[in-house]
Amino acid sequence: MTRAAVLSGLGGFVPPRVVTNDELARRLDTSDTWIRTRTGIAQRHVIAPGTTTSDLAAEAGRRALKSSGTDDVDLVVVATTTPDRICPATAPTVATRMGLVDVPAFDVAAVCSGFLYALHTAAAAVVAQLADSVLVIGAESFSTLLDPEDRTTSVIFGDGAGAVVLRAGESDEPGAVRDVRLGSDGSLADLITVRGGGAEHRSHGHTASDGDPYFRMMGKEVFRTAVQRMSESSRSVLARTGWEVADVDRLVAHQANTRIIQAVAEQLGLPPERALVNIDRVGNTSAASIPLALADGTVDGALGPGHRVLLTAFGGGATWGAATLVWPDLTAG
Ligand code: UT7
Repeated sequence: MTRAAVLSGLGGFVPPRVVTNDELARRLDTSDTWIRTRTGIAQRHVIAPGTTTSDLAAEAGRRALKSSGTDDVDLVVVATTTPDRICPATAPTVATRMGLVDVPAFDVAAVCSGFLYALHTAAAAVVAQLADSVLVIGAESFSTLLDPEDRTTSVIFGDGAGAVVLRAGESDEPGAVRDVRLGSDGSLADLITVRGGGAEHRSHGHTASDGDPYFRMMGKEVFRTAVQRMSESSRSVLARTGWEVADVDRLVAHQANTRIIQAVAEQLGLPPERALVNIDRVGNTSAASIPLALADGTVDGALGPGHRVLLTAFGGGATWGAATLVWPDLTAG
């Protein structure tokens, strides 16, 4: 047995306002049928004016702490593509709002793979004895980044947050983060991007008020690459853990598109019913998607103690990854 990071708390939060496909179809050239059949999404949640990513993150974080029965951690990591501000990071704001005083806190930016990147970083901090407990949050207010005129992105993304608490434990305990495999390819940066507002944009003589401030995605190419990279990293992490595909009880893939999730299951040779799906209710919530799917899965009973769980994601960067763990006995806060 060796020291490991063990999942001991879980929480999810989505803002109350629901936007249905029909509501979007009233202002965009789209339809409920197109969105459901091409993406599997029926609705998404969207923040009210004045709400920010840190609000969602703090609420999910509180729920995760409650679920773990603690009110303190040694480190806070927030994965987000939609930080409250470009500078400073959002994690210190979240920690302070949660009453976590003087705790180290930083953001991780890996778009839809952000939660897996943050989980790996947090688990490594526990294993290296830099922390005994870490709060890992994926939080997004993606609606603030979307071009309201762009039907190819507006129908897909939603707002929300999910969080887990990791505590120091033993590698053979249920909930121990077993293995994580991550990867990236910066030559694919243009597949998923916000061009305006960053240092590159300003360095080319632009100001904050010109250029394209919106999220852009080359959907078809992202679809193909996402299936390929999620399948590859899943196979790689399974080999490292010593599990066969048949050993996997639950696939919790980034909720990008039900067709992507089903294609990954098919590529792996995994029965499609082992894949958790909540994209129909929340849309693609980027860095929040995996912890939100985990929280929903424990609430609706799809995920239970002893399940061997495979997590996988693909996102902007490009970034991707996969992780394994045996699900512990816990209730989402
Ligand atoms: O979270 C990070 C990772 N993100 C993803 O993984 C997203 C990956 N990509 C996707 O999920 C899919 O590519 C989309 C859902 C974005 C698009 O689905 P698609 O099946 O790849 O559609 P497409 O882009 O090939 O477009 C098919 C048609 C086009 O019309 P034509 O050229 O065939 O006449 C589009 O203009 O559908 C049209 N279209 C729409 N029609 C109605 C595109 N968006 C819409 C829309 N409503 N919202």
